[in-house]
Amino acid sequence: MFDLATRRIIGATVLMLTTVVTIGMVWLTEEQRMARFEAMHKAKAIENGALLYEQYCSACHGAEGEGVPGRGPSLNPGVFQHYEQLKAQGYPNSLRNFIKLNIAAGRPVRSTYHSNETYAELMPAWSQDFGGPLRPDQVESLVEFVLNWQTAKPAPAPALAFEAVGSDLTKPLPPGDPQRGQALWNQEVKQASGVAASCKACHGLRPGEVMVGPSMAGMATLAAERIRAPDYKGQAKTPEEYIRESIQQPNAYIVEPEKYAAAPGVSLMPATLVNQMSAQDLADLIAFLLTLK
Ligand code: HEC
Ligand code: HEC
Repeated sequence: MFDLATRRIIGATVLMLTTVVTIGMVWLTEEQRMARFEAMHKAKAIENGALLYEQYCSACHGAEGEGVPGRGPSLNPGVFQHYEQLKAQGYPNSLRNFIKLNIAAGRPVRSTYHSNETYAELMPAWSQDFGGPLRPDQVESLVEFVLNWQTAKPAPAPALAFEAVGSDLTKPLPPGDPQRGQALWNQEVKQASGVAASCKACHGLRPGEVMVGPSMAGMATLAAERIRAPDYKGQAKTPEEYIRESIQQPNAYIVEPEKYAAAPGVSLMPATLVNQMSAQDLADLIAFLLTLK
């Protein structure tokens, strides 16, 4: 019923449509194939990363990224929290790049985020590009492995061998031992967390010796004067309570803010020291400072 020319046109159109559909299907399955390949590739990278992590990283960051006191910070969930904080401050890089950079180049300088922690060593550089032992693809595998923690469930909180006293001023304290307090101060013994008390990095014991913070000379006598001063804003009623408050809540009352405040209402003394300290550590440090008359 169609003449030859019409049939040719129809034939050509059908052929063309079939070709388009076929190409489309190949393209679609190719995309699925690629997605499968990428998923497999990623799974393989995570697997390789897990082995590398165990060998090179777990000693400082813990088997599940929970962190090791005195050696390395938590990565799971620590590094994700650190990144969120940086991003809130305008850090422009992606999470992936942040993690990759830290692993590849290490941390030749301690980050302020972790400045309250004491680590035996700095984070080494790992990529051969930065003089480290690992190939770029191995670093990439480690990045995949660390990133995978974010989607997997976070590691259980590290089993602390101690309970940190924190900032709660009402928590009952055991009787303090001034001798152990002095040993803690001099870093001859460590706190329950295994971290050396950093007090003497900022406070001298000689009269008038100003380091980052004021001298502790005569602290017991001074504490009694502090709580009677008209500008005193804290809650302490006794010298003991004053010293306790100074350590657990440095921002409750800042001595000479023009000299010792990092920003209005923020003491140069970190409020987080008490997160490394047991109630006993705190009681002993207070008992020691109360001997300084
Ligand atoms: C000798 C101990 C040590 C080893 C080994 C080590 N790290 Fe670290 N790492 C650290 C320390 C310490 C820091 C924190 C330094 C700082 O910023 O103050 C850190 C920081 C990091 C950070 C950034 C964390 C953050 O929140 O800023 C990442 C990511 C990281 N390490 C991954 C790794 C990986 C992956 C490996 C294994 C290839 C590894 N580390 C091996 C000690 C170590
Ligand atoms: C990073 C430096 C820094 C570290 C570490 C530090 N302090 Fe302080 N500390 C300060 C500064 C600065 C002040 C003064 C500002 C204020 O009142 O908070 C201060 C104030 C104090 C006061 C009150 C002093 C006064 O004259 O009234 C006491 C007590 C005290 N620190 C004890 C400690 C103890 C104990 C430790 C160790 C667990 C410690 N500090 C660690 C910087 C530090």
